[in-house]
Amino acid sequence: MLSAGETRFRIVAAVDYALPRAEAFASSIAKETGWDVKSYRSVTDLLNSGQKIHGADICSPHELHHVLGCEFLDGGVHILCEKPIGITVKATRKIISTARKTGLIAANAEQCRRSIAQRTIHWAFNRSHILGEPRLWLAARYGWQDRNATPEWHWRVERKLGACGMAMDSGAHWVDTMRYWFGDFDSVYARVEQFEKRPHRKGKRLVLDSHEDFWTSVFNFKSGVIGTWSWTISASGRSFTQLSLTGTRGSVTSDDIFHPAASGPRGEASLVDSTSYSIGKLQEMFLDDISDRERNRLFPHGLTDGMAIEL
Ligand SMILES: NC(=O)c1ccc[n+]([C@@H]2O[C@H](COP(=O)([O-])OP(=O)(O)OC[C@H]3O[C@@H](n4cnc5c(N)ncnc54)[C@H](O)[C@@H]3O)[C@@H](O)[C@H]2O)c1
Repeated sequence: MLSAGETRFRIVAAVDYALPRAEAFASSIAKETGWDVKSYRSVTDLLNSGQKIHGADICSPHELHHVLGCEFLDGGVHILCEKPIGITVKATRKIISTARKTGLIAANAEQCRRSIAQRTIHWAFNRSHILGEPRLWLAARYGWQDRNATPEWHWRVERKLGACGMAMDSGAHWVDTMRYWFGDFDSVYARVEQFEKRPHRKGKRLVLDSHEDFWTSVFNFKSGVIGTWSWTISASGRSFTQLSLTGTRGSVTSDDIFHPAASGPRGEASLVDSTSYSIGKLQEMFLDDISDRERNRLFPHGLTDGMAIEL
């Protein structure tokens, strides 16, 4: 952001209860920018330090989003909170009500829809209508993850620390993406299962992964679009991933069912008249089609990476 010319911000502090991590982060920012970046063990220590801050970017485990978020808001600091905003609906409502009470901003960090290729797909369906009217989509990944691998324990393994598995973790990106492309839902039905027990090493103990290892779901959109989303790591044999977004005149196909095209122009659009475009080509057509003003609004300083734009 700095090298692109965005200079309206300064990072002044890093917080991590594992203090060496905060210090390492602070020193890497200081090395890169020359800024004086302080390190703290807790949000309370930072708020009590007297250091002036306007906003905080919360990148903690999920169960702390509402705890740290509300502490910052009550301390007079705007927040940008990583996805999923709250670990439960109740926790999310607590963040919203604290922001309303304090009159401060609580934003959810969501970079995918801000990336240039996702903006391009939105344009292809909803503005240029190259793909016609959106009709249906399929997002499916079937694969296998070794149940005897016993990886190291991580907070994501436990429901009370991380909530759901991929359905909520990376799923937060996909649900936001599909709402961006296809509008709001009318109804959703799903089947979620855990077929395999997957132990993780936590010190001398083995802790079982609490998460789903399979889901299949149908999303009915208010617009009439129908989506089918399925994922598993418990299907043995040859794995596959398929994303197909279908309109009345053509489809986009790709291979990411959580953040498609968000990190680069991956995928292809093929039309019923046999024309096909790479997403990169479609991206050029999108940029040519919009005004300079809109281009500067969507991609300030020429930035096209969703994360930089979100920040
Ligand atoms: N937007 C994206 O693409 C994206 C990608 C990865 C992770 N995330 C999100 O970022 C967040 C962090 O995920 P991660 O994979 O980096 O986790 P992580 O475990 O690598 O990092 C979490 C950090 O929080 C620290 N921490 C724990 N308790 C704390 C406390 N009470 N006070 C201060 N610090 C504390 C930990 O020491 C650790 O350094 C999650 O919400 C995750 O969903 C978003």
